[in-house]
Order: sequence, then structure tokens, then C-alpha cells
Amino acid sequence: MTMPATKDRPEVGPIAFIDLKAQQAQIRERVEARLMAVLDHGRYIAGPEIEELETLLAEKVGAKHCVACSSGTDALIIPMMAMGLNRGDAVFLPAFTYNATANAVIIAGGVPVFCDVDPDGFNIDPEDLKARIIEAKAHGLTPRAVCAVDLFGVPAPYAALRSICEEEGLALLGDAAQSFGGQQARNEDWAWVGSLAPITATSFFPGKALGGYGDGGAIFTDDDETNEVCQSIRWHGTDAARAESVRVGLNGRMASFQAAVLLEKAAIFWDELEARRRVAAIYDEGLKGLAAPQAIPSGTRSGYGYYTVSLDDRDHVREKLGEAGVPTAVYYKTPLHRMKAFAPYPPYGPLPNCEAASSRVLSLPMHPYLTDEQARFVVEAFAAAVA
Ligand SMILES: Cc1ncc(COP(=O)(O)O)c(C=O)c1O
Repeated sequence: MTMPATKDRPEVGPIAFIDLKAQQAQIRERVEARLMAVLDHGRYIAGPEIEELETLLAEKVGAKHCVACSSGTDALIIPMMAMGLNRGDAVFLPAFTYNATANAVIIAGGVPVFCDVDPDGFNIDPEDLKARIIEAKAHGLTPRAVCAVDLFGVPAPYAALRSICEEEGLALLGDAAQSFGGQQARNEDWAWVGSLAPITATSFFPGKALGGYGDGGAIFTDDDETNEVCQSIRWHGTDAARAESVRVGLNGRMASFQAAVLLEKAAIFWDELEARRRVAAIYDEGLKGLAAPQAIPSGTRSGYGYYTVSLDDRDHVREKLGEAGVPTAVYYKTPLHRMKAFAPYPPYGPLPNCEAASSRVLSLPMHPYLTDEQARFVVEAFAAAVA
């Protein structure tokens, strides 16, 4: 079959994997005004934008507290430091994720214990987690926490994870770097990412669904003590008066400029989420029978940080899509337990679903400024590529 190409279909226009330029065109003036306001008040650190952003985001996601941080990685490290991990304390995480999740565990003093994922949804598999907890104990580790990851935007199975954590006395942290805007059913309503786990860390890296113009992140929690300790660690471990160190901390603060940008991005985020869902619906419908889209359990809604499918001849299809003018990405070609940095933490047994996912996943263009026509073009090109 002949491949369609965007160049042969000028009405489709070039397709971006993530389109930050189109987004900037919507908000440029308002962002400039916000940045000017920071220049005027001159509080580049801890300016009023930080509290405004924290209040806005906490309210939006339904969490009591939001702690704005310098990156998504710091948003993971800080609550893990707050847990006071000791030598030999195990933190369980999926091996199919970005390296930052495991780096955070190690930097905070924990031992990462890699778990397998659900073969269709790519998030941590609660049954495998239970088995790894037993193994970790048998190897002399002390289970302390689970760091679940909401891969590609789909919230992890928090209900099951909560009950395991409660039974085992473990802390539960959600790595929501990719899932801001995701939801899970709760009491006849939909609860937002940020309120699904006792502690949630998200990232505002520019390419994320809610991204700044630089690095940024946030921690969400309902727990007053966790909030207080995270605030302290974010500011070098100082007390509330920022006079003395009461614990070891770091510089994990978000800059006022970044909060200024994020306030304007947050103002359009929920409309953008609807647009992401519109694109996803076109993909879901059009790709039926062509590839397996990431499984989204009932009672869960993706934030569509990415739209990812799984297929046998991934690399061939990727090449064909590229020729047709459809950019794609592979997250992640190598699961963490295969990476050199994490060799000192070999998993307790094989991780077949992580291995399979890394050779099968392909992420398609996903952003709110894709037109219906472009989304349908992606589907057409995909159909031609797999034919
Ligand atoms: C799953 C996951 N965790 C953590 C991070 C780290 O976030 P940041 O880049 O903001 O430090 C990322 C960023 O890509 C991520 O995808």
C-alpha cells in the first residue's frame, strides 16, 4: 500500500509530536505580562506566584496541600527524604519507567526493588508487587514504600496499591510526572491525579501535559505533617522561620518566573485536556484492530500525557510513520533493571512484561492542537504502515 505523506496532503499541515509553539501563540501576551510582573516585584524566589500556583493547583486536584518544587525529580526525592529511609530500606517501583523514579529512590537512601508491570496497561502489577515484598524481606531488606508510576498518563491501580500498603505498613507515593489531568472514579465522582495517592509527585518539564518553560514540579498531599516536612526539605531543611536547619534538605524551590508561566498554562489546561481526549477518541476508534492501545482500566481516565500503543513490528511501523511525516517516540527502549546505573539492584526474578513492553511500545503525536484531520491522518498512515 502507498504511504500517505503530509507533504502530499498540504491541507493536513505538519504534524508535531508535542506542539508548544501553537500553545504559546494562545497565551503569549498573558505569559509576558506575568513575567513582567515578576521583573517588577523582584521576588525571584518565593514570589507571590508560588503561593498562587500552589493554591490553584491544590484546589483544582482536590488535595489539601501543594508544594511547588524545582523539578519532578525533586518532587520525588523530597517526600522520599521525608520518609527517613535507612540503610536496607526497600522502595518498590516498576522497572518500566523513566530513570528519575529509580534515581530518586537511591538519592533518598533507599534500595530500589524493581517490579513487573501489567502487560497491557504498563503500570505496576499489584500481584507482582506482593511477591516482590516477600522476596525483599527474604533478602534482608525492610519494605518501606511503594513508588507507583502513572505511565503515559494512566493512573496506577491506587485502590489495590493502597490496600497492600496499608496491610504491609508501607508509604505510597505516586509518580504522576506523566499523568497530570488523569482521574479515577471515587464515590460516584471523578478524583484527579494529585488526590489519588497519599503523596503525589508531578513534573512540569516543558513537554509534560502541564509544562513550564523550564524545569518544575509539585508535591500534593492531604497530610499536614508531610506537607510541613516537604516544605522544610525544599528549603535546605530549615524550620518555618527559615532560620535554622532542623533536618537535612536541599534547594528544591521553584523559581517565581516558572510559577508565573505555569499560572497561565494552568488557566488553559482543562480545555487542553478536553482536546487531548478528543484526539485520543479518534485514535481509539481508528486504530481498532491495527494495534493495542494502552489499556485503561474501567474507573480510570488517562491525562493523555502520551498516547501509546503496543505492536509486534514496532520499529518497522515507526520508520514508515516517519516517512509519512508522523513523528513518534519510544518510551522506553530499555527497562531500568537493564541499565548500567541500576546493575547493583538486580530484580528478584524476571520482569517479562517490562521486557515485552520495551520492545513493543510506540507513542503517537499527542497534544491539544492536533486537528481532527491530523489525527485521522495519523490513523491512515498507521493503517498503511502496518498493512
Ligand atoms: C515517570 C517520570 N518520573 C519522573 C520524571 C522527572 O521529572 P523532571 O524531568 O521534571 O525532573 C519524569 C520526567 O520525564 C518522568 O517521566
